Amino acid sequence: MLVSHADDHEGTRRDFIYYATAGAGAVATGAAVWPLVNQMNPSADVQAMSSIRVDTADVEVGTQLTVKWRGKPVFIRRRSEAEIADARAVTVDDLTIDKTSQNNNNFDADASDENRSLDEAGEWLVMIGVCTHLGCVPIGDGAGDFGGWFCPCHGSHYDTSGRIRKGPAPLNLLVPVASFEGSELILG
Ligand code: FES
Repeated sequence: MLVSHADDHEGTRRDFIYYATAGAGAVATGAAVWPLVNQMNPSADVQAMSSIRVDTADVEVGTQLTVKWRGKPVFIRRRSEAEIADARAVTVDDLTIDKTSQNNNNFDADASDENRSLDEAGEWLVMIGVCTHLGCVPIGDGAGDFGGWFCPCHGSHYDTSGRIRKGPAPLNLLVPVASFEGSELILG
């Protein structure tokens, strides 16, 4: 998965320059506010606790590991070739409910499988395992009409990329910030 932050950074920089040159009054206010804002940032130990590492070495192809992170289940799925092929055969135009990636790295991206899976080959799919309707935990392992996940609470069907294909859920399953270091998955 390739994610570009270039545009966001560009905007942030432009905004900063704009505000920094907006006038002496603004600068004086900024000087008073900054220490308070700085104190509100989480400390390093709190930030560390919000990230976890998961060993994925034993996750076999076509299976899923579920871990708990920040109080929610996270699905770590190592997809089979067939699952990847199914997911990549679906274009954004085929999606009738949610065409956005729901990816914490890039909410502007569309919901192509390339934007949602963690690696370029698409073997790894990491998602918050909470139905976007009313919060039940969907069933995996090829469940539902689209071979991905099925939410038994009110009958939502997600495909092999975790995209909602048949409601009532309104959004694709959320893809959290995640990365690999060797076989260790870092969440957060
Ligand atoms: S909570 Fe999943 S369909 Fe309602």
